[in-house]
Amino acid sequence: MKIYLNNKFLEVSKTEAEIFNSGLFRGYGVFESMRALDGKIVYLNLHLARFFKSARVLRLEIPYTIKYLESIIRKTLRLNKFPDAYVKLAAFAGAQKANLTVLVKKYQPYPPEKYKRGFKVKAYLLKANLDPKFTQAKTLSRALFETAYQQAKAQGFDEALLLNNNGYLIEGTRTNIFLVKGNKIYTPALKYGCLAGVTRKAVLGLAKNQGIAVIENSLKEKDILASDEIFLTNSLIGIMPVAAYNRKKIGRRVPGKMTQLFSEDYNKLKEKRCQER
Ligand SMILES: Cc1ncc(COP(=O)(O)O)c(C=O)c1O
Repeated sequence: MKIYLNNKFLEVSKTEAEIFNSGLFRGYGVFESMRALDGKIVYLNLHLARFFKSARVLRLEIPYTIKYLESIIRKTLRLNKFPDAYVKLAAFAGAQKANLTVLVKKYQPYPPEKYKRGFKVKAYLLKANLDPKFTQAKTLSRALFETAYQQAKAQGFDEALLLNNNGYLIEGTRTNIFLVKGNKIYTPALKYGCLAGVTRKAVLGLAKNQGIAVIENSLKEKDILASDEIFLTNSLIGIMPVAAYNRKKIGRRVPGKMTQLFSEDYNKLKEKRCQER
């Protein structure tokens, strides 16, 4: 069987062709992006739990056990010889059963200056509200998020923040968001449709340990603009300060005190969490 791929006509087997002609075309699949540190995955247990949870939302059967997934992730990581890596796990519908893939890429972090200067972010206003059931799953149907991100990048921003049809803040296209006001922290509640981020969860735990109140609630643009500090979270980025929203400066100093505190705590925690599994 012949297929066309990027300027070449390739002879592929029926099984290989099936990989292209499957859930990938319909965005009918789920994935996880994970960080490997020194050959171990940070919060592997939480990523795998979310992977299965996302698949349940899509009613996509993943005919593999957690143990099996752990073993293939570790093996792909070893075979690629990048102890610090991005690891992507994806499952998407196939003719008989879900296709499963693990991809490993050398970790290329943002330069340290980016963490000092912070992200410039831009609002992306949704014209209709998304079904939180689906946005809470990490699915391969990401055209909207990717378009918002690419549009922001083309205009010189680092990330787009999604606000729903009623003006409520949801999250970034690949990040969860935290606003700091005084000694309290605010983050959109999951019911507004944000992903239950692994790093978000870690930050909530760190705040609890520090005795810092985190209010999971509804947030609007005025809350963003009134923040003393804003930071974003993502498994690959860690904790990233935000310097400006729609070109308006946020807070007086970047990174702010709370952001710095959480970054330091999170960096220590992630070293521990990759040793547990
Ligand atoms: C839409 C969205 N929100 C939040 C996150 C952050 O999640 P995590 O901390 O699990 O990486 C991601 C990660 O890619 C994402 O795609």
